[in-house]
Amino acid sequence: MKVTFKKDYLKWFVDDSEVELLKPAAGLARDTLLARSGVGNEMEDWLTLPTDYDQDEFARILTAAEKIKSDSKVLVVIGIGGSYLGARAVIEFLKSEFHNEQAVKAGLPEIYFVGTSASGRYIDDVIDLIGDRDFSINVISKSGTTTEPAIAFRVFKALIEKKYGKDAAAKRIFATTDAHKGALLDVAKENGYERFVVPDGIGGRYSVLSAVGLLPIAVAGIDIKKLMDGAKSAQEDFAKDEDILAKPSILYAIYRNILYRKGFDVETIVGYEPQFRYLFEWWKQLMAESEGKDNKGIYPTSAIFSTDLHSIGQYIQDGKKILFETILDITKPISDRVVPQADDNTDHLDYILNKPMKDVNEAALTATAQAHTSAGVPNILLQLDDLDEFNLGNLIYFFEAAVAVSGYLNAINPFNQPGVEVYKTNMFRILGKPGYTD
Ligand code: PA5
Repeated sequence: MKVTFKKDYLKWFVDDSEVELLKPAAGLARDTLLARSGVGNEMEDWLTLPTDYDQDEFARILTAAEKIKSDSKVLVVIGIGGSYLGARAVIEFLKSEFHNEQAVKAGLPEIYFVGTSASGRYIDDVIDLIGDRDFSINVISKSGTTTEPAIAFRVFKALIEKKYGKDAAAKRIFATTDAHKGALLDVAKENGYERFVVPDGIGGRYSVLSAVGLLPIAVAGIDIKKLMDGAKSAQEDFAKDEDILAKPSILYAIYRNILYRKGFDVETIVGYEPQFRYLFEWWKQLMAESEGKDNKGIYPTSAIFSTDLHSIGQYIQDGKKILFETILDITKPISDRVVPQADDNTDHLDYILNKPMKDVNEAALTATAQAHTSAGVPNILLQLDDLDEFNLGNLIYFFEAAVAVSGYLNAINPFNQPGVEVYKTNMFRILGKPGYTD
C-alpha cells in the first residue's frame, strides 16, 4: 500500500558509503522541513494537508461534484500549471487516457482542460465538442491574472451565460482561487459563484490535494477520501521517528542527488503504462519548479515505454551519459489480458501463448533496465503495489517530500518559482497591459 524504493539497478553506480555520507544532510533537511524553519517555510502547509485539510470545504467539494454530475454532461476545467496538472494527472492515472469515453459509458461528465495555452484553435475545438450539451465550469487560478486561463474563462463565461442566462450560469461556475485577493476572487464575489480556496501556504505544484485538484477529481468519480488517506499514510511515515534510510522519500532524494553530483544532470521518469503520461507531466512541474533555480537542478523529463523506446530509447542507450532513469512500476496486474491463440503460428508468438500481458510488460521493463544500466545509465525503481486512490495519494506525498528534501540538499528554496513570473510579465508588456508597457 506504499511506495517502495528499490536499488536493484543502482549497485554499479552508487556505494552504500556514499549514501552514508549524504545521510546527515538529508536528515537535517527533513528536520528543517518538519520544524518549518527553512527557507520558503511560509509555503510548507502541504506537509500537513492530508491531516489538516478543511473538512467543511471537503464536504462542499463532494456536494458540488454531485451537483455537476447530476446536471452536466461536460465539466470545463480552466487553469494552467499547478492549477490543472494535478487533477489531470490523477484522473488519467486512475482512469486512463480515454477517461472521457469511459465517463460517457459510466454516465459521468466528460472533463476538458482549457486555458493551458493561448491557442484559439484549441478553444474552438472544445466548444465544438461541448456542442449543445449541458456543462459547468471550474475556473482555477490563485492570482486570477494569468493570461491564458483568464482569456479562456472570458470565452466560456460568455458561452455559459448565453446558454443559461447570467443567474442560472452563476450556479454552474465554481471558482477556485485565493481566499483574500485577486481578479478571479472579485469576479466570483460579484457574480455569486461558489468558491473554493487555493490555500495560502501551498504553491500550485503542491496543491493537488486541496480544492484545486479535488473538485475535478471528484467529478471524475474518484474517491477523494481514499486519495487523502494514502497521502496521510505517507505524511505519517515521513514524520515518524526512525532511521531516515527506512523512508523511501529520503532514499529517493539521496540517490538522485548522489547521481546529480556525479554529473547525471537529467532525470527521466519512465513508466510502462500510457495512462502514467499526465502523472509524469505533474511530476515534471513539481521537480522543475522546485529545483531549477540559482543555475542548478536536475532537469526532469519523462518517457512512456515501450512507445518511447522506439524514439528516445536510442539516445538513452548510446548517447551522452547525462541522464538517469526513475522507473515507476505497479506490481499488481492491472489487466488480465493474455497473449491470445491464433489460427496459426506465422507470427512466431506461440512461445508466449497465454502469457499474461503483465509478464510481457515486465519483461520489457527488466530487459530495458538491464540494457540501459549496462550502457552506464543508472536506474532507480519505484514500486506501488496497486493502481488505486490510496497508492496514488501515497505517491503524491512521497514525491512532494522527496523534492523538498532534495531542494534543501541543494541549498535552494524548493517552494518558489520566480522564473515562471518572467515570461508572464514579459507577455503583459508585449501585449500592452497597462502598467507593464515599460
Ligand atoms: O506552480 C505554480 O505556482 C505555477 O505553475 C502556477 O500554478 C501557474 O502559473 C498558474 O498560476 P495561477 O494559479 O495564479 O493562474
